Amino acid sequence: MRVGVLTGGGDCPGLNAVIRAVVRKGVQEYGLEFVGFRDGWRGPLEGDTVPLDVQAVRGILPRGGTILGSSRTNPLKAGASGGRDGIERIKDNLAGLGVDALIVIGGEDTLGVATRLGEQGVPVVGVPKTIDNDLGATDYTFGFDTAVNIAMEAIDRLHTTAESHHRALIVEVMGRSAGWIALHAGMAGGANVILIPEQPFDIEQVCAWVQHRFQTQYAPIVVVAEGAHPKDGTDTLVAQERDAFGHVRYGGVGQMLASEIESRTGKEARATVLGHVQRGGTPTAFDRVLATRFGAHAIRAVADGAYGSMVALRGTDIVRVPIADATSELKLVPPERYAEAELFFG
Ligand code: F6P
Repeated sequence: MRVGVLTGGGDCPGLNAVIRAVVRKGVQEYGLEFVGFRDGWRGPLEGDTVPLDVQAVRGILPRGGTILGSSRTNPLKAGASGGRDGIERIKDNLAGLGVDALIVIGGEDTLGVATRLGEQGVPVVGVPKTIDNDLGATDYTFGFDTAVNIAMEAIDRLHTTAESHHRALIVEVMGRSAGWIALHAGMAGGANVILIPEQPFDIEQVCAWVQHRFQTQYAPIVVVAEGAHPKDGTDTLVAQERDAFGHVRYGGVGQMLASEIESRTGKEARATVLGHVQRGGTPTAFDRVLATRFGAHAIRAVADGAYGSMVALRGTDIVRVPIADATSELKLVPPERYAEAELFFG
């Protein structure tokens, strides 16, 4: 039996750990063969492959990124496959390469395509990944813990320079329309204010918290999720383009906040945009373990013929759920979780 593996969407630390576990267990326990597809859905769409065996996965556990490459190619988008139906083209390429099953490691968009392929009879098993931690059906995705730790370390460093210069420092973190990274990094880093997309903010209130922190002789750190927005709905995006799945490119809210805070409070303010630093480098131990367990359980699902399923974390157990459950509803920060963090604002 030959199994294809692909990683799609924004990369995140831990992808290589999944690939390693899939291949090691697949070869050692089930005697399977593997083929890697390059750059997400572009690989099966164009039949672009890379050899994938035990030798190819040696030493990759601590490496960030993905040895298979990634992309945001959307085979469902009209014109993505030169006029031919993307799904049909993928099916033809899989058949031509003798691929009997596909392990798809991805987030909302990549797994959305996997769901469609599964409905069309392609044997797929999903593995959830994203630093945003916004997929339904799983308690955590790998990549999130690493991103949170990177952001927390940045906040720790910003505290000292903020104090020296009596400035308000604003830290813009990723997360798309979910505030998980901001919430966890902000709580872990002792932020003065945390702003998330799920809770539109009042700029007057933010400035009041900032002022209060200055009055208590501490310099404020404001952690803002890239998708956060003011109550009046002002658009803060610096770029207007959308990706192949129709998502806007976030960015700009940190700078907007710095300008507003400076003009309304009279205090110096600076914005730091952490950007792709949060997705790079070596995974934390938590992410390595979660990714390894996901990989091992995904190849077991293939061996069991449990197609259309995705591995997921429930408590401390890895379970199987329908792939569609991951993307049917995004997991956002509930109000009660935000309320826990609010205790420390101002
Ligand atoms: O979904 C992961 C993520 O890093 C988001 O947090 C962010 O908005 C987006 O991807 C950035 O995408 P790109 O790497 O295409 O700029």
